[in-house]
Amino acid sequence: MDARRIIAAIRDRRPLVKADYTSFANGLADGSVSDSQAGAFAMAVLLNGLQGQGRVALTEAMRDSGQTLGWALPGPVIDKHSTGGVGDCVSLVLAPALAACGAYVPMVSGRGLGHTGGTLDKIEAIPGLRTTLDEGRFRQIVGQAGCAIVSASGDVAPADRRLYAIRDVTGTVESIDLITASILSKKLAAGLEGLVLDVKCGSGAFMKTPQAAQELAQALVETANAAGCRTSALVTDMNQPLAPALGNALEVAEAMRVLTGQSFGALAGLSAALGGMALAGAGLAEDVDAGAEAIRAALQNGSAAERFGSMVAAMGGPVRFVEEWAHFLPEATVIRELKAERAGVVTAMDGEAMGLAVIGLGGGRQVETDTVDPSVGLSDVLPLGARVEKGDALLRIHAARVDHAQRAALALRAAITISDDAVPLPPLVHAELG
Ligand code: URA
Repeated sequence: MDARRIIAAIRDRRPLVKADYTSFANGLADGSVSDSQAGAFAMAVLLNGLQGQGRVALTEAMRDSGQTLGWALPGPVIDKHSTGGVGDCVSLVLAPALAACGAYVPMVSGRGLGHTGGTLDKIEAIPGLRTTLDEGRFRQIVGQAGCAIVSASGDVAPADRRLYAIRDVTGTVESIDLITASILSKKLAAGLEGLVLDVKCGSGAFMKTPQAAQELAQALVETANAAGCRTSALVTDMNQPLAPALGNALEVAEAMRVLTGQSFGALAGLSAALGGMALAGAGLAEDVDAGAEAIRAALQNGSAAERFGSMVAAMGGPVRFVEEWAHFLPEATVIRELKAERAGVVTAMDGEAMGLAVIGLGGGRQVETDTVDPSVGLSDVLPLGARVEKGDALLRIHAARVDHAQRAALALRAAITISDDAVPLPPLVHAELG
């Protein structure tokens, strides 16, 4: 393989054939493509885009650069992926809810990225639970509980792992082609038949505008379908936290309230909307509305919670977690209210700043080697549109130390806007694709 020819073709906007992408991805995985060649490739793709079917070919080549799973289960194998937000714990709700509706969900998840939280960090707030499973155990849990939320083994899409690290330091993360291939190569390696994507937009998302999110959603849906995985997407709002809590144990608590039918807010609503699309796409519901109804029923009748409990126990967590989750989840030692300094209406929130405040409390990583404190974060966050009097609590800060809480309060005060007059509220769902 001549990496120079492939890079030059992209530089000159000439089409390549599938075998070129395959050999480049394999070269990334086995080290025969150098760092400088990988960087030049990424920059050429970012500047010129990939021609023709290049995006699909690169995605498939990166998917096939490592281990791919196949399944023989008595129901469809499906999954959901979010591009990342704050207070977004849909995966914890949706994986068991889909399982309760007859699907199998081998959910290979990630850790926090930038200001956003990661599903693995959240579920690991459950004492004893381990997300690093060998393939045999992963298969066993998916077969028995219907879902498992695990970290990717070192062998999944190794071309992406190498290219992602190089993009991170060469200013080439923000390419629709490269983001699409990166996200889908890992998801599709899990052997999915169907996928539903939650592409976030707004202050707490990577894509700040609905237009940018729509463009990414379109690319993801077209590419995943072309690669043989039936895929649809919602572009959803991230101008405020999805759940009224941010932070690992605090988000597990929110997910448990939804799973046990005690909470019906945006987290439950979006879980039903995404689940409806996933079930309809997989042939487990007549249409999206019937699918959403099935998800709501699974949350109400305890069957989703039962799946969650089986998964948690099988992954090393407490056997009676669903019954006694409040007893098992770690609690921060310092809890302080952030009080409104004036009366008015909450009209804007800087979701990214709120996510970073949680990281500052120790709820995420500043550098890769940091350990995460599962107990810290924010709870009882008032939604956009809430009317407050001076001195009312806007949210609660959960911290390990008083000075940490004080530092977070300063950042959070600047992140929340209180105005005299209400402004129109953003819709939860901006667009539906696929
Ligand atoms: N998440 C990924 O996995 N890859 C990207 O390129 C961006 C977000």
